Amino acid sequence: MKRFNVQRTYYEFNDKMTGQVAVHPGFDFGGTSGWGGYRWDPPDVINVLTQERANVHYLEIGVDQGSTFDHITNVEMKHGVDPYGSCKNITHRMTSQLFFSLNRYFFHHNYDVIFIDGLHLSDILHSEIVESLRLLRNDGLIVLHDTCPAIRWRQQVVWSDFQNILENVITPDEKERLDWHENTALSEPVGLNGDVWKNVAHLRTIPQFTTFSIPNAGCTVLAPRKLPKFDQPPLESDLHTTNWEEYYERFEEIMNPVSLEYFKENIGEYLPRENG
Ligand SMILES: C[S@@+](CC[C@H](N)C(=O)[O-])C[C@H]1O[C@@H](n2cnc3c(N)ncnc32)[C@H](O)[C@@H]1O
Repeated sequence: MKRFNVQRTYYEFNDKMTGQVAVHPGFDFGGTSGWGGYRWDPPDVINVLTQERANVHYLEIGVDQGSTFDHITNVEMKHGVDPYGSCKNITHRMTSQLFFSLNRYFFHHNYDVIFIDGLHLSDILHSEIVESLRLLRNDGLIVLHDTCPAIRWRQQVVWSDFQNILENVITPDEKERLDWHENTALSEPVGLNGDVWKNVAHLRTIPQFTTFSIPNAGCTVLAPRKLPKFDQPPLESDLHTTNWEEYYERFEEIMNPVSLEYFKENIGEYLPRENG
């Protein structure tokens, strides 16, 4: 089975940064929401990882409305960390930074699957990955979201997005009244994905790890060990500070993409039937 057929395309849209209609190169990941929207959702990936195991411990960083969290099944322990999200099932209403510290002092939890989908700034994601690697149980995996931006503006980090978030934070009580998403019902951000694709560029330089992406689900999977069916030669140099042009040109090399079908067909042999 082919790993993934990367489709490059052009999008014509009203550029949010300039206000002009413009044509931009991007990727078509088969989504239906336009401008390279994803075809699959995180539960389509994560539930594959939880189904075949027993006693799965699951952690989600950044829960928001619970669109993923509430649909993760076959887990023995499910923790969700989010300081502001409206999902009633959030177990730790705090930042990931505080959660990781308190876990070290008091909670002492370990996890089989950690889904990181909080603040999409590469510096913050870097520290969340480092902390998460410490909490993984044997054969555990980390799933990152929004690592495969389809078009340039989706990965831009612009101050006005954060200004909007800070000025328009709404409370869980307002959820019914407003179309809640990341506290910014009043203003959709430009940089929906943030620049976390740069973290994948960094992870792909680590030869002991296998890092691969499922672009049509907007996810990257990180295994701190070798998974031969998903492995590709590591990148020769750290592209953490590289730009969109390099990402666009070297997408296959940097992201190591596979289709959801390839993932489902091949990941099973790396999932233990029983956890200790
Ligand atoms: C993209 S949304 C999460 C979406 C959710 N995982 C899903 O699949 O539907 C990002 C969430 O991260 C939360 N967040 C922001 N900063 C955070 C932090 N430092 N630690 C944990 N969560 C954070 C926001 O409140 C927001 O609800």
